[in-house]
Amino acid sequence: MILVTGATGRIGGRVVHELTAAGATVRALTRRPDEVQLPGGAVAMPGDLRVAASVEPAFEGVDVAYLFPVPGWPIADLLALARKAGVRRIVLLSSATLPGGPSLIEQQHRANEDAVRASGMLCTFVRPTAFMANDLSWAPSIRAGDTVYNAFPDASLAPVDEHDIAAVVAAALLDDDRAGHTYELSGPEPLTTVERVEILGEVLGRPLRFTELSPQELRTALVAHHPPAVADAMIGVLAAASGTTAPILPGVHQATGGPPNTYAEWAGRHADRFR
Ligand SMILES: NC(=O)c1ccc[n+]([C@@H]2O[C@H](COP(=O)([O-])OP(=O)(O)OC[C@H]3O[C@@H](n4cnc5c(N)ncnc54)[C@H](OP(=O)(O)O)[C@@H]3O)[C@@H](O)[C@H]2O)c1
Repeated sequence: MILVTGATGRIGGRVVHELTAAGATVRALTRRPDEVQLPGGAVAMPGDLRVAASVEPAFEGVDVAYLFPVPGWPIADLLALARKAGVRRIVLLSSATLPGGPSLIEQQHRANEDAVRASGMLCTFVRPTAFMANDLSWAPSIRAGDTVYNAFPDASLAPVDEHDIAAVVAAALLDDDRAGHTYELSGPEPLTTVERVEILGEVLGRPLRFTELSPQELRTALVAHHPPAVADAMIGVLAAASGTTAPILPGVHQATGGPPNTYAEWAGRHADRFR
């Protein structure tokens, strides 16, 4: 049996879909088991990753677990409970090496990896770069006035589709031979902020405007949704990525054998969110 945490989110939901489509027996962790609808006979289990004891029942009878990081989770306690319950293998969602040196975000992900390595269980690390899905935060201002407000117009990223991240996670969960591997994933092309706005406009069939914010204005917008230290780390990554060309990372192809989805493919799937 496979346990998927973060199972109702953008990546985890797709992981559950892929695993059940492949015929796996799946248990899906959620804080809202009575509200969620899961694909393909996956069974919802209650649990809060910030309260280790609440997850203990979900580990019983599980062979492989996918861990989706939640800030402030007691990861060592969670891993100890998993091991005690007989879990053999962990697949961890981590993060790629980001521009500008080890940011706070990267340090947190590497600490998670260290904890999993120290747990004594077999492990696979899935390290995506920036998510294409981050650009869904542009949807309200595009719907309201065809405008994207952002700083760092020439920050180059090679963002990755959440479906590709999920495909790599699912491949790792389904195959014991993936133990010991670290998959670093990006999308197929380096794109600046302005280039992504242009592609979105082409997919939506109408030109979009880009209005540049100062880093301080972006920080004000970010701290509405993130702790200030995380907002500062995000700004540091974008500043370091400005004027560069983002590297293309091989993980999607290594894990699935296929190419990663393009930004235009991702935008086409989410077009309704921007209309
Ligand atoms: N954004 C990036 O560019 C980037 C890059 C690399 C890595 N990451 C990592 O990706 C993750 C964010 O992914 P996302 O935005 O796509 O997530 P998301 O779709 O918003 O999904 C959130 C999921 O987390 C679960 N969850 C939240 N708090 C929980 C808790 N205390 N206990 C149990 N489950 C909890 C939710 O489950 P319920 O509500 O059902 O309980 C839900 O399934 C972060 O861990 C981040 O570090 C992000």
